Amino acid sequence: MKPLMLWIFVLLAAVLALGCAQPEPLPEWEAANPLSPLPAPPLGVDHTFEELAEPPTVETVRLGRWLFYDTRLSADNTISCATCHRPANAFSEPTSVSTGIAGQEGGRKAPTFINAAWALLPHTFWDGRAANLEDQALGPVENPIEMGNTHDAMIETLQGIQGYARYFEATFGSPGITTDRVAKAIADYERTRMSGNSPYDRWKAGDESAVSDEVKLGDQLFFDKAGCNQCHLGYNFTDTLFHNLGVGWDPDSETFRDEGRFAITNQESEKGAFKTPTVREVTHRAPYMHDGSIETLREVVELYNRGGDPNPYLDPKIKALDLSEEEIDALVAMMEALDGEGYLDTPPGAFPQ
Ligand code: HEC
Ligand code: HEC
Repeated sequence: MKPLMLWIFVLLAAVLALGCAQPEPLPEWEAANPLSPLPAPPLGVDHTFEELAEPPTVETVRLGRWLFYDTRLSADNTISCATCHRPANAFSEPTSVSTGIAGQEGGRKAPTFINAAWALLPHTFWDGRAANLEDQALGPVENPIEMGNTHDAMIETLQGIQGYARYFEATFGSPGITTDRVAKAIADYERTRMSGNSPYDRWKAGDESAVSDEVKLGDQLFFDKAGCNQCHLGYNFTDTLFHNLGVGWDPDSETFRDEGRFAITNQESEKGAFKTPTVREVTHRAPYMHDGSIETLREVVELYNRGGDPNPYLDPKIKALDLSEEEIDALVAMMEALDGEGYLDTPPGAFPQ
């Protein structure tokens, strides 16, 4: 009897142990960046991912999130996209111009790409030289003062990181790490960085108490007397077109420190013209303009109020506005009410190894 009991115990114990066996634990980096549902566009962003030609998928976005924050894409493993495009600054940066690899300064400020998934026109960069987020995504990798790498070297690095292979395969349905795949993944992560549901959006959706009377006055001015909506229009408050406000004009030499759109099109009329930025999340993006030359929102409105900075190529839509001090404050308050939510993120806690 006794040996039989013992055997039964041993068997029971074995069955129990098997039943409780844990599945293979997730790699640390996958636990830190799990597949998660695509975020819903917030109030005020009147679009859906389905309307895009090639919508993001949960897989492209997860992979893109790693790549966006991975410093191994740069030549010396120090710089990621997020070095300049910082979540807390709505994916812009708190400095006038960017600092890239080996502390080198560029001539322009990193613009935000929030809500860029549904950009009205295919104009990426301050001068529109890239057509879409995919075209844009790999430029910085090869820019000698940004990430200082080559595409070949970046692909080689990624191929050498064993952990990445399975995610490229799971995302694109076949093995292989290519520049196109890296670009698509990063661009899709960017497409999920949206901003809406601000007090302004809640007011426009019917909640009269969401904003102050000052904001309401500012809104009226924005769309009427001040004519800001001639360029800052649509759900993301930008026409995605190029205009000269006089920013960067040097009256002494009568030249622009940066010729902007002109360098791309050679159109005289586009000298010193830059792409209209969104005014969503604008409080997180000081200093302002392509060269970060204006410190505060109030000073931006003062620039418009005096009719821009005079130069031969000033946009004809820019005229002195004759705004009172109260009206200037109201425009600032209106823009401040466009601080919303939906874009924030933190770098994944671990990366494929
Ligand atoms: C060293 C700083 C720096 C790094 C690193 C960097 N960027 Fe940028 N980014 C900029 C600057 C500056 C601009 C504007 C350049 C211009 O307009 O000529 C820009 C422009 C952009 C734009 C255009 C936004 C718009 O509204 O047109 C996107 C999108 C973007 N970067 C994504 C990325 C991605 C993806 C990476 C990583 C692969 C990256 N950036 C790395 C500084 C940086
Ligand atoms: C003619 C088109 C046009 C009009 C009208 C216009 N803007 Fe702009 N806005 C732009 C362009 C273009 C820039 C970027 C210029 C540059 O960087 O050189 C800009 C930049 C800004 C910025 C800085 C944003 C950033 O990220 O740096 C703010 C804020 C702003 N505009 C608010 C306003 C307000 C408020 C009004 C109305 C008083 C207004 N704009 C009217 C085209 C326009």
